[in-house]
Amino acid sequence: MPVSKVDRPGAQQWVPEGADVEALRAAASSCRGCELWEPATQVVFSAGAADARIALVGEQPGDQEDRRGVPFVGPAGRLLQKAVAEAGIDVATTYVTNAVKHFRFTQSAPGSRRIHASPDVGHVNACRPWLAAELAQVDPEVVVCLGATAAKALLPKDFRVTKHRGQLIVQQTSRGEKTFLGTIHPSAILRTPEEDRDAAYAGLVADLRTAAAALS
Ligand code: URA
Ligand code: SF4
Repeated sequence: MPVSKVDRPGAQQWVPEGADVEALRAAASSCRGCELWEPATQVVFSAGAADARIALVGEQPGDQEDRRGVPFVGPAGRLLQKAVAEAGIDVATTYVTNAVKHFRFTQSAPGSRRIHASPDVGHVNACRPWLAAELAQVDPEVVVCLGATAAKALLPKDFRVTKHRGQLIVQQTSRGEKTFLGTIHPSAILRTPEEDRDAAYAGLVADLRTAAAALS
């Protein structure tokens, strides 16, 4: 279906004002802010502490996340968890979510393997009200954007992962000034050729250490 024909009102009208994270999670299952809800199994909202000091923002749920309803429970999630621990961050102090809350995929035939398709900027924009609402509620000290899609949702337009990763970026938010940091997505490490994979992983850990060091 051509994008111009897609009815994409954005999530705002489904986001209850002033709701806490649990109420946001419950409301998100009704969201029809873009077309991605329909082929997906369920909405995948977030996991982790509602009073977290660090928020980790990914791209969108993957195949396993879509089936289980929990973010970062597949291979990328396992790698992220390892990197978080290695960076000296207590996972209990983190809040994990995605820029887009439904799994976007392609499938050649019903029942065949679902292939991840990156959300486009229209999906990121449609879904941003959920991200804005949950981050306003959690009010973390530092927000880590994992990969280009999360960066698109939350970082300045000219941010490039290759150029600006690992830098602390202070931005004004609805909860005052907040520190952001963009880095690579753990999936990118899984796609890195074996000989370069350790270095890519070390880079993610180093960036997470930078984020942790920014905590007051
Ligand atoms: N990749 C993401 O960006 N988020 C998930 O939840 C899983 C994989
Ligand atoms: Fe709503 Fe986001 Fe799902 Fe689109 S991807 S239907 S905006 S929750």
